[in-house]
Amino acid sequence: MKKLYVFAAIGIISTALTYCSSARKAARAAAAAKSTYTTAVAPVVASSCSPCHISGKGNKKPYDNFANVKSDIDEIIRRIDLNPGEKGFMPFRRATKLSADTIAIFKKFKEDGLLEN
Ligand code: HEC
Repeated sequence: MKKLYVFAAIGIISTALTYCSSARKAARAAAAAKSTYTTAVAPVVASSCSPCHISGKGNKKPYDNFANVKSDIDEIIRRIDLNPGEKGFMPFRRATKLSADTIAIFKKFKEDGLLEN
């Protein structure tokens, strides 16, 4: 019987320790998470700038590659910050702007230092 309590206690303690350390790890990862081209920007380009800026599909400057987005980031941010109907607005001829959250992804990518991965 005593053995059983010991096992139960070990089980509870190890569960608690595992939980704490993974929660701490997750918190640390979230704080350190930088917005990179691959993790944050590429999925938005694929959904919002397609097909026009996707190589092989559209005939506009391709933004499905890191180098072009990096070099044009200021112009990209300027254009997605415009309002529909304004000259230069992107996504071209769409009736609505990208959501504020989506625009923020491009801005955070810039603030975080234009990282690829
Ligand atoms: C329906 C097609 C279409 C979509 C979707 C689109 N664009 Fe464009 N884009 C264009 C066209 C056409 C031009 C050229 C005309 C102009 O400069 O306004 C252009 C030009 C640009 C330029 C200037 C490029 C240069 O050569 O200087 C940028 C920056 C840009 N787009 C960003 C974006 C971003 C970012 C998205 C997605 C959020 C996007 N566009 C979505 C059609 C599109």
